[in-house]
Amino acid sequence: MVLVAQELPLMCLMLLLLCREPGVSAQAGQGFTLQQPQPKVTVTAGETLTLNCTTPGVAGPPGPVMWLKGWGSGNKTVYNPNNVDPSSRVTVAAPGSDTDYTIRISNVQPEDMGTYYCVKFVKAATGVDELFKRGSGTEVSVQAKPSPPLVSGPEQRARPEESVPFTCTTGGFLPDKIEVKWFKNNNPMGVQPPQVTEWKMKTYNMSSTVRVTLQKDDARSQLTCEVAHSTLPAPLRGSFQLSRVLRVPPSVEVRAEPSPVEVNKTVAFTCLLKEFYPAQVSVSWLENGIEIKGQSLSRPLELPQGLFELRSRVEVQATEEKNGSTITCTVVHDAQAPANYSTVLWISDPAQGGFQMDKGANFLSSLLLLWMGVLLEKGILGGLLFFLFKRMKRKASQMLPYPAPPQSPAPAARSQGLATASSDL
Ligand SMILES: *[C@@H]1O[C@H](CO)[C@@H](O)[C@H](O)[C@H]1NC(C)=O
Ligand SMILES: *[C@@H]1O[C@H](CO)[C@@H](O)[C@H](O)[C@H]1NC(C)=O
Ligand SMILES: *[C@@H]1O[C@H](CO)[C@@H](O)[C@H](O)[C@H]1NC(C)=O
Repeated sequence: MVLVAQELPLMCLMLLLLCREPGVSAQAGQGFTLQQPQPKVTVTAGETLTLNCTTPGVAGPPGPVMWLKGWGSGNKTVYNPNNVDPSSRVTVAAPGSDTDYTIRISNVQPEDMGTYYCVKFVKAATGVDELFKRGSGTEVSVQAKPSPPLVSGPEQRARPEESVPFTCTTGGFLPDKIEVKWFKNNNPMGVQPPQVTEWKMKTYNMSSTVRVTLQKDDARSQLTCEVAHSTLPAPLRGSFQLSRVLRVPPSVEVRAEPSPVEVNKTVAFTCLLKEFYPAQVSVSWLENGIEIKGQSLSRPLELPQGLFELRSRVEVQATEEKNGSTITCTVVHDAQAPANYSTVLWISDPAQGGFQMDKGANFLSSLLLLWMGVLLEKGILGGLLFFLFKRMKRKASQMLPYPAPPQSPAPAARSQGLATASSDL
């Protein structure tokens, strides 16, 4: 027992000797520890990262506490109190403290990802700082918000029924998991998964393409790309007005009023441009290929669906030699190739119809009236005669028996026929 009691301090001394760090005197720094309470930290790019490191109670031996990123080969000194760069993003939270070695790193970048160690160095006899103790390390992961999504469409306008690609892009996000949704006028659209590519090391870019078959009534339609990412409290949206890429060519109608026209009267030609987009349009008029001055009655009129309508009018004096002339309405829509729409100027022939025909008709109708008058006269006379004849006959039949025999079979046959018809029914 006595022996054991004597041997105990020796054993303790031996253990201490075994456990002590090389180059450090046994007396200094015993019980000194560095505590890094955060095993893992996630920080969003651009924000400030706080790395905690404290030593509870026991003051350490002389020597600096530094911060290293990584361990072993490839480690990097993040903070050295003896070599502070004033332009550095790294600052100490409690300057001058010998118990709190917490640092702050502002404007965190994806490159800042790694494990950070708070390390105590001591002055060795050689004058070189030697590693004494370190904290357990803090693993820092950086996440980055995607940039606002941008939707791009084709360079040139396209017509209805054409299938057109639209692309939604966003970049600079971390981690790489991202969700993309497309909507046309708030209606979800089916799409392929987005393409995610690494960009500028450590962050990612995304590109998602959707094909849209344009429709005539898409002048007011909107395409939306919605991006969801773990860093975002709410999805980000980018949109595109389909009117930017839509071209609906006008459907054109040329009309002459009146047609045919009487000689030397005025005939009005109207060119009606229906349902077109965009509004940029010019209309010119040609008479047998030679330009004539027309007049646009109105500027393009916007229809409820966002399409436009335009009426252009030209008046022509219908001189006889213009009969059969071609009147053309030339439409240039949205800097496209001109399109021609023609009609023919017809002048009614005064010899056959028109004025002459009116005269003839008058003559004919007066003839007809005369004839009808004659007929009416005859009819009245005939009726009167018939009436008188009947009266005479009735008076005669009152005196004589009715001559029945030749007429009786006919009504009988008629009633029989009626009977068969009704039985057939
Ligand atoms: C850090 O790297 C240097 C060489 O770059 C090396 O000499 C040193 O031992 C390393 N320190 C630690 C703690 O790994
Ligand atoms: C039409 O006008 C021309 C010239 O003004 C004239 O010579 C011609 O007789 C006119 N024709 C008719 C049917 O009025
Ligand atoms: C105009 O031309 C049409 C067709 O050739 C013909 O029927 C009509 O009589 C002409 N009119 C005049 C006024 O010559």
